[in-house]
Amino acid sequence: MSIEAGLDAMGRAAEAAIAYRRAIATAETTPTASYAEMLAAFAAPVPERGAEPAVILDELVTRATPGIRASTAPRFYGWVIGNSHPTGVAADWLTSAWGQNGGNILAAPAASAIEAVAAGWLLDLLGLPAEASVGFVTGATIANFVCLAAARSEMLRRVGWDVEADGLFGAPPLRVLIGADAHATVFSGLKFLGLGAQRVSTIATDEAGRMLPAALEQALAEEGGPAIVIAQSGQINTGASDPFAEIVPLCRAAGAWLHVDGAFGLWAHASPALRPLTAGVEGADSWATDGHKWLQTPYDCGFAIVRDPVAHQRAMAFSASYLPPAADSEREPSAFVPELSRRARGFSTWAMIRQMGRSGIAEMVERCCAIAARIGERLASEPGITVVVPVELNQLILRFGDDDAATLATIAQVQKDAVLFAGASSWRGQWVMRISVSSAATTLEDAEITATAIAAAWRTVSATLS
Ligand SMILES: Cc1ncc(COP(=O)(O)O)c(C=O)c1O
Repeated sequence: MSIEAGLDAMGRAAEAAIAYRRAIATAETTPTASYAEMLAAFAAPVPERGAEPAVILDELVTRATPGIRASTAPRFYGWVIGNSHPTGVAADWLTSAWGQNGGNILAAPAASAIEAVAAGWLLDLLGLPAEASVGFVTGATIANFVCLAAARSEMLRRVGWDVEADGLFGAPPLRVLIGADAHATVFSGLKFLGLGAQRVSTIATDEAGRMLPAALEQALAEEGGPAIVIAQSGQINTGASDPFAEIVPLCRAAGAWLHVDGAFGLWAHASPALRPLTAGVEGADSWATDGHKWLQTPYDCGFAIVRDPVAHQRAMAFSASYLPPAADSEREPSAFVPELSRRARGFSTWAMIRQMGRSGIAEMVERCCAIAARIGERLASEPGITVVVPVELNQLILRFGDDDAATLATIAQVQKDAVLFAGASSWRGQWVMRISVSSAATTLEDAEITATAIAAAWRTVSATLS
């Protein structure tokens, strides 16, 4: 198989990708073939012989396109998904084409250097301590894991235990205190680290899912060893952030490590207008956030940020005879993440920050929030529709009629109408429709179209109920 044929396939892929993004940017509807249809499209025995790259590419585009979820369409509000912005995608294409192994300075000098620069930019934009270290990981799940590994390392070191060397067998107990409305993936981190997903003290929260400082204070006062407190910026249903200005001093006074899961909510701190929502978050010890959510990078891209680079590296760094150690003045990319070989995520991170700049990021985050607020405002005046929690950031949850069935039926109707995509979530034991506005492609005009389409879907459903 010639190199030229492969290069030709790269060109075809670029053409197909550009055509797709052009079409989806103005798409009026967002239908998607089902998983079963996609299995049927791809199912086949192992090919006995290879094929020409051009044939492979054509097959891939033809078969996969009907089942590509329109996550980059302007009115896609499912989960919390950014736009995989074309500039970030272009940088990511180069990352793949260059074939850089992002784990090591000698193997990838440009990737390592751009990561060091992007790390500094992230700290500056997010208003976090300049001395903190940043690991470029797959997403907030692993960012939480890395930050909690640093927390585990440091809190046990302070009581004379070397967890990296000796593990947890016979270690002094650690306490983990976590808000009642924390994201499910934080518990994965606890599980991976041997801290136990269920061996936690749950701190009560308010109606929007914010940790109650008085409840935290009481829990911190209890005996039981050094504590790790896990707070959050951006509750997955309500967008609420914990009251950091009150929580940080409590953790400091108790000598606890404060970690913040800020997968998307931490980006409020990049906007002067929204910063009051996250006031004080810079006082924490570690932060997890995503690039592939509000920074609009393509998947996969997350950041594990730790105030104490020594604790961060103690938990993650390793050495091998064949890997030259970095000089003191250099930042070794693998020292801050669990993997050695990995994608060089600094390129797309750098490109997206370069694309929007400080003011563009702030404007985009603020625009997403304004859109969520506008949709909520329009729908609040529709009979039978309830905005369940006042919109604080970019998340809006809606209830239709009096019960779960009406809400789920409206979600199904919205998905069938395909003017927008929104999914279901559960909040305080009830099903809700969740609208997450986290794409740079969404406009205020989309807010109007969205509100009209949701109201119409609800009217269709309510007509069948009466
Ligand atoms: C608050 C929060 N934490 C963690 C995660 C997990 O992030 P990722 O899917 O990037 O690993 C999410 C994802 O939506 C989230 O919203």
